[in-house]
Amino acid sequence: MAVNSGLEGVIAADTVLSHTDGNSGTIWVRGHTIDDLVTHHGFEGTVAIIWEGFAGEKLTREAITHEFGASRVRTFAAMDDWIGAAAKRPLLEGVRIALAALPEVSKPADIHAVLPVATAALIRLRDGQKPVAPDPALTTAADFLRMLRGASAGANEIRALDTYLTTVCENGLGNSSFAARVTVSTRASLASAVVSGYCAFTGPLHGGAPGPVLDMLDDIKASGDIDGWIENRLKDGGRLMGFGHRVFRIRDPRADVLRAAVAALNKDAGRLAFASEVEHKALAALARHKPGRALQSNIEMNAALLLDAVGVPRDAFTQVFSIARCPGWLANAMEQQKAGRMIRPASNYVGPKPAA
Ligand code: ACO
Repeated sequence: MAVNSGLEGVIAADTVLSHTDGNSGTIWVRGHTIDDLVTHHGFEGTVAIIWEGFAGEKLTREAITHEFGASRVRTFAAMDDWIGAAAKRPLLEGVRIALAALPEVSKPADIHAVLPVATAALIRLRDGQKPVAPDPALTTAADFLRMLRGASAGANEIRALDTYLTTVCENGLGNSSFAARVTVSTRASLASAVVSGYCAFTGPLHGGAPGPVLDMLDDIKASGDIDGWIENRLKDGGRLMGFGHRVFRIRDPRADVLRAAVAALNKDAGRLAFASEVEHKALAALARHKPGRALQSNIEMNAALLLDAVGVPRDAFTQVFSIARCPGWLANAMEQQKAGRMIRPASNYVGPKPAA
């Protein structure tokens, strides 16, 4: 039996949630383009669109904003369930502990609320500050920045973060959404599905990528030699963070949406120009070292620049990314619940035979 260890090309689900064509750079989220979602629906409106028929009927942006706000308040009030253990650990582990404390019967909005509330509270505690209670009237982007800083963020920063959350909310059968589907396909709970999704997400090849992208840019800057740094990394068999994608064979169109959002913040034009130069040289080097592989820019460089520009600490990039993607995990998990088929592939045994 031929083994396909990366499962590329395997179609494991029918979905109404999103469509990605990596050769043409097309992404549709339930019949909407990313531009349309960013311009007209925002993060909560996008959640209403992808949860429609799964987590309720006739969902609206306003209803999701209201429900998410109420869930953040409940999550903050129940923080004693996890904060003691979580605050002693690095952020990645602390957020995992907070998610693991969810009751089995948790509703989608209550599951999602753990991510903004725990991420902001754990960062503040680490910095010697008291957690800030949520404001249920605000959007996720506005309230997360407020809970993080202890003061309201500017409208342009809120808009930039909302653009980010909207742009990366749902993207087909990525590793983390697949993990959520596998879990729920055994009739495990939505809370367990999101713990699975989060765990699969944290690796540097997936949702853990944006922090290391900035580390890479800083290292390249410090070296003073963009070409030399890139050559050495590729010669050693290393990967350039922010490039390559299992599905996209041309530049990920979401990268430009995020780049425009960072540029609109008008914060550090020099850094953006440097990132563009690195990107340009990295693409040329990848084409030389990996001819025929079609390695292009993914979203992570612009995502990292955006998160940094709105004041998210570098080691929290993955957790903020998970605030965006969690509704996508949940939508996939709820769609899988309706499909009902348990996911169970097979392996090809290559071990020893019994002696007798
Ligand atoms: N830098 C250097 N080499 C690379 C890179 C890269 N960024 N990406 C792929 N390659 C190499 C692979 O090592 C492989 O080489 P080989 O054939 O000589 O063994 C070849 O290019 C082909 O790899 P693919 O099959 O295209 O890559 P795959 O689908 O397995 O991996 C992945 C995709 C994990 C995203 C990869 O491109 C990567 O590691 N990128 C860097 C990390 C990153 O930016 N991750 C974020 C992705 S976006 C997201 O998940 C949210």
